[in-house]
Amino acid sequence: MAKSENKPMPNAVKFLFGGLSGMGATLFVQPLDLVKNRMQLSKGEGGKKEYKTSFHLIRAIIQKEGLFAMYNGLSAGLLRQATYTTTRLGVYNALFTHFSGPSGDAPNFAIKAGLGMVAGMCGAFVGTPAEVALVRMTSDGRLPPELRRNYTNVFSALMRIAREEGVVTLWRGAVPTMGRAMVVNAAQLASYSQAKEIMLKSGYFKEDILLHFCSSMISGLITTIASMPVDIAKTRIQNMRIIDGKPEFTGALDVLGKVVKNEGVFALWKGFTPYYARLGPHTVLTFIFLEQMNVAYQKFA
Ligand SMILES: *[C@@H]1O[C@H](CO)[C@@H](O)[C@H](O)[C@H]1NC(C)=O
Repeated sequence: MAKSENKPMPNAVKFLFGGLSGMGATLFVQPLDLVKNRMQLSKGEGGKKEYKTSFHLIRAIIQKEGLFAMYNGLSAGLLRQATYTTTRLGVYNALFTHFSGPSGDAPNFAIKAGLGMVAGMCGAFVGTPAEVALVRMTSDGRLPPELRRNYTNVFSALMRIAREEGVVTLWRGAVPTMGRAMVVNAAQLASYSQAKEIMLKSGYFKEDILLHFCSSMISGLITTIASMPVDIAKTRIQNMRIIDGKPEFTGALDVLGKVVKNEGVFALWKGFTPYYARLGPHTVLTFIFLEQMNVAYQKFA
């Protein structure tokens, strides 16, 4: 990403480009995020699943709630990108430049993974309130009307959560959110750069959109498998209710233990299809938007 002959880009611009690319990508993949969250919350016990596959769930949502319900929580998805991705990519780019050699050599694999993890954790902490709103808004429609939270948009969601449950609740699930981000970013950012480097060296690829596309698809698959168990813990904690002062889960490990015990080990990968279907294109679109904005900046700034 950072080359020595390029005009240096102010950090604020890097942050802005990162967030904008993420938000652009979210406009396309928001429904998949909704499906993923609903699958992760559906509890099949005794081998009988609530929905057999994501496609059954999608059909049920469209029939019961209407086509536009697939975009519920869009405002939260956009705010999540504006906060999480902006911080994450901004921090990663700045660190990447800082750790590159004097002649522009990329840092090695281990350093890249470390940078990705640090950047991801910073982004996740900043983005947790939007995540809480997103999980709750996307899953509201699965409840009977009298149990719904009825948040109208992300800002009213954040305000109501702070008022009704305390400001600290905005950071509910911050630990698994940051843990998930560490895993995602270590896997995603490092495997993306690494895949790109390897494919460039192979001689079959050149620095173009096809290269960015292939690197992203590979990196997305690795990321999905690695991060789903942490993600289901995050989703269930952020959606839980506290009944008579007793939270449903005490922490991420508690969720994982209960899921494995009640629903089986493979339940940790519930929502795999929408998660991968979302992550691949989201990563592809984000990097394509980002690379194109970087090119435009070099040309016009
Ligand atoms: C949400 O709306 C339904 C009616 O559509 C209502 O029964 C329910 O109490 C509302 N929930 C909240 C938290 O206001």
